[in-house]
Order: sequence, then structure tokens, then C-alpha cells
Amino acid sequence: MARSVLLTGGAGYIGSHTYVALIEAGYHVVIIDDFSNSKASVLSRLSQLTGVNRVSSYEGSVLDPAFLDQVFDAHDFDAVVHFAAKKAVGESTEIPLEYIEVNCSGLLNLLKVMKGRGVRRLVFSSSATVYGEPEELPIHEDAPRGYTNPYGFTKLMGEQILEQAAAADPAWAFGILRYFNPVGAHPSGLIGEDPSDIPNNLMPYIAKVAAGDLPHLGVFGSDYDTPDGTGVRDYIHVCDLAEGHVQSLSKLIETDDGHTVNLGTGNGLSVLEMLAAYGRACGRDLPYEMKPRRPGDVAACYAEASRARALLGFEATRGLDDMCASSWHWITTGSKDA
Ligand code: WQD
Repeated sequence: MARSVLLTGGAGYIGSHTYVALIEAGYHVVIIDDFSNSKASVLSRLSQLTGVNRVSSYEGSVLDPAFLDQVFDAHDFDAVVHFAAKKAVGESTEIPLEYIEVNCSGLLNLLKVMKGRGVRRLVFSSSATVYGEPEELPIHEDAPRGYTNPYGFTKLMGEQILEQAAAADPAWAFGILRYFNPVGAHPSGLIGEDPSDIPNNLMPYIAKVAAGDLPHLGVFGSDYDTPDGTGVRDYIHVCDLAEGHVQSLSKLIETDDGHTVNLGTGNGLSVLEMLAAYGRACGRDLPYEMKPRRPGDVAACYAEASRARALLGFEATRGLDDMCASSWHWITTGSKDA
């Protein structure tokens, strides 16, 4: 009997890629999404990609307990992967209460309905942002936590909510996955990152410059204490990240042992290195201008990635050129009529 998994926010960037990886791993998957930061058209792309005739999905919000009850009444889930959250650092500084409501109250609603149904396995989308300003690099999971913006605050609070729940009731099994910087797209070009407005993040912004939709990249800061003075991050291919979720889920189902792991490559790349790599993928040097530092940014952030390998067998295998080529393939094919 195939294991049944609920993906909240499953039509989003990481959720949709994880849907494909879970179907390929033999799971039965149900998606809930309110389409506030994703498009319903993704569902037909997922059907095309996986061969699932009709993707099982419900439109609604984790802020609606009655909606969650309706979904859990209709399915007997073995686990939940929780993607549904607001995730833009800059926006979080403008509307912190909405971020706390969706990211924290939404998580509480989900935990309540799960407990009521005896569904005790949850994979949680956390983020390297919970390390705040890292004291040492690479960053190990036991590094001190903090936050530098309301989005990071909600991710740290989410982890602490899960820690409190598990400490009080060992029946819970949580896979807490701290994403570094997800980039790239599925090799088919059918799904990818599809920001509705001007992107905040580096790669989707570079992609729009490459596509001619934006004139040049503004490089936020050239005087950091890094090899070329620009910000250094740990970029991880979204397909590697999706596979990490499958490994976390199978660990929970096989052992009910909770875990907290970094999902990164362990390598740091600068803004200029990423820009040059994208230029190779799209076949031309991309224009940029040096700008002042962006408030809240840290100089460098990259993972100590050994725990995910030891606990889950996770290994990021896709390199920088694949990250850029897959993004460019999505931009020039699938994103056109998404
Ligand atoms: C990367 C680098 C910028 C845009 C955040 C969240 C993290 C995750 C990913 C949700 C930095 C530079 C960027 C631009 C630039 N989000 N940059 N010009 O800030 O590392 O991480 O997004 O899960 O949790 O914290 O990602 O892509 O915004 O920035 O120079 O137009 O690119 O300064 O050095 P970040 P980013």
C-alpha cells in the first residue's frame, strides 16, 4: 500500500519539485495550496511530468481549520510536508504580523489537525536564516540561532514550536530541513521558480536580466570580506533539495526518529561567480552595476553539510552549471505560458 503524504503549498516552487520526487519514489501525494504565491496551472504540468492523471489537490489555506478538517477527513495521511508559508525577507519587514500569522498560526493549525487524526510525522521547511549572522563558517546545525528579519523570526519560532511539541509528546516525529539558497528548475523546463513580481532573490533576478525583462543586475555590496567583495551563499539545486525531502520523509516513516539538518552543498559562491555562470548558460555576459549593501544581508553563509549525509544519505549532486542551465531552460521554455 503506497504511503500517503500531504504537501501544503505543494504548487509552489519547492513544493512542486518535491511532488515530482515523491511520486517517483512511489508515494501517493495530495496537494493543498491557496495559490497566493503559485499558479493552479502548475497542477497540469505536474500531471504531465509524473503521469498522474489527476493531481489530487484542494484549494485553501492553512489558516482555515475547517478546510484542513475537510482534507484530513478525506485522506489517511502517513505524513505531512509543510511548505505553505510566506518567504520574502524584504516583504516580511513591511508586514510582520501577516508573516507571523501565516507562518506560525498556520503551523499551529496544521499540528492541531494532525494530532486529532493521529498523523504525527511532519517535514518542516526551515531556513539557514535561523542562523542569523553566522559566527563561524561553514555553519553547523548546532550553531547559535537568531534572526535578522521577521521572516527569519517566524522560521525560528516554527522550529521552537516543534521542539516544544516533541518535548511534551514523543509521539511526534519532525524532520526540520534548513534550506540554504534553492535555485534552478526541473530538467524538463515545465516547472520552475515563477515569481509574480520583481524578484527579491538573486537567481530569478539574473534570469530576468538574461531574458531582457530587466536591464541589469544590481549587485548589493562589493566591499564584503569575501574573495571578490560580493555576497557569498550556498546555492543548492531545487531537485537536490526535493530529493532531500524524500530522504527525510523515509527516515521519519522508517524510524520515527526526528532530525534537524542543513540542506546545502557546503560550497559558497559569490554574486559575481553566479552572474558569470548564468552568462555561460544563456550565452552572453550579463550587465550589472555595483550598489550599496542590502540591509539585513550577511557577508557569507554556507552549510556544514555532513549531518544530512550521515543521517539521511543526502548528497547534493547537481553543480552550478546545471543550476543555471536548468533555470535558463525553464525561462526560455516552460515559464512562457505558465
Ligand atoms: C543572495 C545574494 C544578495 C539580489 C534569502 C532568505 C532565505 C531564502 C533565500 C526563503 C546576497 C545578492 C540578491 C539582487 C544581489 N528564502 N543579491 N542582487 O538573502 O541569501 O536568502 O532568500 O527561503 O531564507 O534569507 O538570498 O537570493 O536574496 O541573495 O546582489 O538583486 O545575492 O546581497 O548576497 P538570501 P538572495
